[in-house]
Amino acid sequence: VKSYEQTYLDLGQKNFGTYTCPECQMSYVQGTLADDTLHTNFHRLTLEGIKYHSYQDEITLETIPEINGRVVLLVYNETRFFEKLKIKNTIEWVNLELGAVEMTEEKLKMSKAYFYVANKYDIVGFALAVRIEKAYRVVDSSSENAQNESRKVSKLQIGNDNDGSGIFCSTKPLRAACGISRLWVKRDYRRKKIATKLLDSVRKNFIYGCELKPDEVAFSQPSGDGKAFASQYTGT
Ligand code: ACO
Ligand code: ZN
Repeated sequence: VKSYEQTYLDLGQKNFGTYTCPECQMSYVQGTLADDTLHTNFHRLTLEGIKYHSYQDEITLETIPEINGRVVLLVYNETRFFEKLKIKNTIEWVNLELGAVEMTEEKLKMSKAYFYVANKYDIVGFALAVRIEKAYRVVDSSSENAQNESRKVSKLQIGNDNDGSGIFCSTKPLRAACGISRLWVKRDYRRKKIATKLLDSVRKNFIYGCELKPDEVAFSQPSGDGKAFASQYTGT
């Protein structure tokens, strides 16, 4: 470590090679602006954690007085600059830990972000829920049994598109499911049911007036931890 400090102080030199920070464990090339900036941010986030402040659009879903905490919902809204930035920054941070790729704007627009906040400002858990499908009963209007409500039901249709050829969708979604595209709990807060509480909030609030069942929540490309959690949570 000592020799490193000496190298680092040699400011005339540009190519220092790869360096692993002993505090945050990030490996990067010292002396290049892009890497130094990335490291500065990562280092600060790792040591200080990521903070949540209040936003105009936020909805507090639950308060957890024991830890001065709460579960907060922020809906991705293009017109809300700071809310958008907070969601994007949090995802970026979570992506680093998950090794996940960046999310498209298209997907973000369909997303709802759930934050688990402790100690008033610390984000210790995060879930990003995306609407993945809406299933409607497809009713065949030409059916002989058109009078019989229960026998009109022929199949389930995903989405609300209707080809107009004698079948129509009932207006009530039969089963609306939700996809979890990001799920993360801070290391020293794991196995305390934080992910469970986050997903319980997602199920209750993702679709207005409709509580989803655990098996109506789908996980996208789960990691090892994610798989263990998901199978326990969905009971599959
Ligand atoms: N190994 C085995 N079982 C587990 C694990 C695990 N690592 N994590 C959760 N479970 C099961 C257990 O049965 C647990 O109950 P128990 O502790 O009483 O045994 C139950 O799930 C509930 O777990 P929670 O405490 O609610 O889960 P936690 O708050 O620890 O968060 C999470 C789980 C989010 C997977 C966390 O470990 C994490 O952030 N890991 C790193 C990031 C990650 O892998 N995220 C998921 C990626 S998938 C995706 O983003 C869609
Ligand atoms: Zn560092």
